[in-house]
Parts: sequence; C-alpha cells; structure tokens
Amino acid sequence: MISEVPGLLEQVRDRFAHIDTCPYSGPRIFFENAGGALTLKSVVETSGLYASYPDNQGRINAASTALQSAIDKGRADMRLWMNAPDGQVFVGESGTEVLFRLVRTAALGAEPGGTMLGTTLEHPASRSAMSRWADVTGRPLTLVAHDDATGTVDVEAWLPHITPDLRVASIVHTSPVTGISVDVNRIVAAIRDKAPDCFIIVDGIQHASHGGIDLDALNADGYAVSPYKVFSRHGYGIGWASDRLTACTKETLVGSSPTGWEQGTRDAGSYATFSDVVDYFLWLGGLFTESTDPRTRIEAAATAIHAQEQILAQAMIEGTHNQRGLADIPGVTVLGGLDNPGREGVVSLTLDTMDAASLVQFLEDREIRVHIRKNDTYCGNVLGPLGIDTCIRVSFSHYNSPGEVSRFLTAMNEAAAV
Ligand SMILES: Cc1ncc(COP(=O)(O)O)c(C=O)c1O
Repeated sequence: MISEVPGLLEQVRDRFAHIDTCPYSGPRIFFENAGGALTLKSVVETSGLYASYPDNQGRINAASTALQSAIDKGRADMRLWMNAPDGQVFVGESGTEVLFRLVRTAALGAEPGGTMLGTTLEHPASRSAMSRWADVTGRPLTLVAHDDATGTVDVEAWLPHITPDLRVASIVHTSPVTGISVDVNRIVAAIRDKAPDCFIIVDGIQHASHGGIDLDALNADGYAVSPYKVFSRHGYGIGWASDRLTACTKETLVGSSPTGWEQGTRDAGSYATFSDVVDYFLWLGGLFTESTDPRTRIEAAATAIHAQEQILAQAMIEGTHNQRGLADIPGVTVLGGLDNPGREGVVSLTLDTMDAASLVQFLEDREIRVHIRKNDTYCGNVLGPLGIDTCIRVSFSHYNSPGEVSRFLTAMNEAAAV
C-alpha cells in the first residue's frame, strides 16, 4: 500500500509537522498517535492565518464574507468526509463536550421512562455522559461487558440487553486502550430491530483516523470526532446529529434556527483546518483511485490508511527480517491478542520483566515516544478486569514507517534482555 508505492511514504511524511523531531526533545519516533495524531503542515499554516483575522461573521464586508464561506465549506467538507447527507454537523469545544451534548439531548428528548445502554469498553467521556443523564432522567443504565480476550464487544454480547424500551445507547467505535474496533453497523442494526426509536450515539474519536466513516450507512443518531486525532489541531470537537435528534429541544438562542447546534461566535479557523484534513484525504485517495468523485477518493484514502497500518501492526507483532516481533519476545503480552483483525493503530502491551513506567522511559531514551496507560479513570475498565495495573500503548498512524517499527523492535528486544 502506501509504503509499497515508490516515494509515497516520503511525500506523506513531508505533509506532517514534527514528523521525526520533537520541538522540545529532538529526534524521536512518534508512537503516541492515540493521544493526538501529528498535525498537517497545512493545518498549522491555516490555523495561524485564521488566528490573525480580526473580523467576525455576519457583517457586510469582504473579510466577514470570506470567514462565513470558510465555515460553510468546512461544514460541507465534514459532511462529505463522514458521508452525512442528512442531519447536522457542528463544531463544539472538544470530543468529550460533543458526546455530552449528544447524550444530554437524546436523554432529555427521548420518550420518558425506559432504559439506557452502553458498554464497559466506552471511554469515560461517553460513560460519564450516559451515567449523568441516566441519573438525571431516572433511567437505569446497563453496561454490556466487553470481552477481555479480544478487547472488543460484539453484537452477541449486546443482544440479550436490547429491549424495546431502550431509549439511549452509546457505542464506542474503537477502544483507545485496546485499539480494537467494534462492529458498530451490526450493533446499530440490532438495536433498530428491537428498539427502532432508540437514540444511538457513537464515539468515533479513536476510530476516525484509522478507517472510513459512513454515517449514511450507519443509521445512528449521533457521532463524535476529535480533530486533533485526525491530523488537525486541538481546540474543537466535531459532532453529527441525525434529523430526529436535531428535532429534540436543545440549547439555542431564542429566535435562532431550531436545527442549529452551535452556540456563539464561530472560530472560522476550526472549520478551515478541517477542510485541510479533508483535502489531505482527497489528495491521498486520488493516488489510489482514478475516480474524481470526492467521496470515492476519501474512501480510497481510508482504505489505504487502514492497509498501511495493518502492515505496521503485523510487522510489530510478527517481526521484520531477522528481528523478533512482539509475539516472540519473551515476557511480552499484547492486549486484545496477537492476531486480531479489528486492530486499529494501537498495540498495548506489558513486559514481565520491566514495569510500564520504566519501559516508557527505556523507549524514550532510545528516541521512541509511547504512553503509559494505568488502571485509572481512563483505562481501569480494560486493565482492571485483566488484573493489570499498567501497560504501555504504542500507537501508530499511516505516516509511520517500517523503519520506525524496526527501531522499536530493536529497543523492545533489548528491553526484554535487561
Ligand atoms: C474513544 C475516545 N473517546 C473520547 C475521548 C475524549 O476526547 P477529547 O479529549 O478530544 O475530548 C478520547 C480521547 O482519547 C477517546 O479516545
């Protein structure tokens, strides 16, 4: 895929800021993508430009008109990228805030009574939102148990809990701890089958940069994305809400459009930087399809990204050339199993002979940046049942190279020998 096309990986890498050097510590391999992906250079430039504009929307002057056009284009690009012809896209404060807003609107807008359903795999963002609004609306909240061995939760686990009185359900598209995706399409279909009016909110924050999003096919009611995890910058979250969810009562200025989810003066830079992300997908996808149809190109980019990450994951686990992979390094345990087709850009692991904090430092000393995950608010739902206090999360993206994986394996083999 990407690394098999001569020169393409270099072109891809050249589009990202700080691809191999940390502005603070110097050269490093970036395997911390689940904490926040690298930022496109175009996003950095656009961000600076828009931050410099003093003008505001809703005025009759050229600057105001240009800012409004950037906002409209950003929204249109978000729709295209998520394949969302219906419903509303909106920009909020963060992925977490968007999830809270979607869940709150659903819980308050749903017919009174009934139940709410999530899973033990959810990130605390959706879990906390579901818990709070179940409490406020007096509904019982059940959490479907995920499978510790596979690091995901499948439709069979959901089925016994889906009842006709289900009002709100939340589904994480991919776990940021195990890195394993969830078959959201099948779960949404199973919910629609028994509880057609249930509001279904999907947390796509970890999934978004690793595979395609097709909201038209998904048939959910809400979807959340954090742009800094998809090659844009911090400071905003993206939400999508179905027409049905949009029709529920929500916070809007008196007299403003009932379909509007956004509040207050817009930061045009957030929309413009997401257009840069979509432009990147269009460019990359255009190298893998002859089609000029934008959606086809976005899907081609998502497929190429996913395929490239599978190559990197396979190399990490099975090894490269003469290097032992994680599967063969004594003392290494990989969360979610070694051969998991649902893996998306994350390999979380423990090493028997070295605690996670020391291993993170050991790798940092060798210019490889990874992150510790602890049995705490963020990861206790996954690590606790496994009886693990800490692990390291190695998270990669399509711009990481096979050479970087090779250096990581050299370091891991060295760590195992200490
Ligand atoms: C699956 C998932 N949901 C929600 C969040 C929270 O996102 P944010 O910090 O952008 O609000 C994260 C962040 O890691 C995540 O991975």
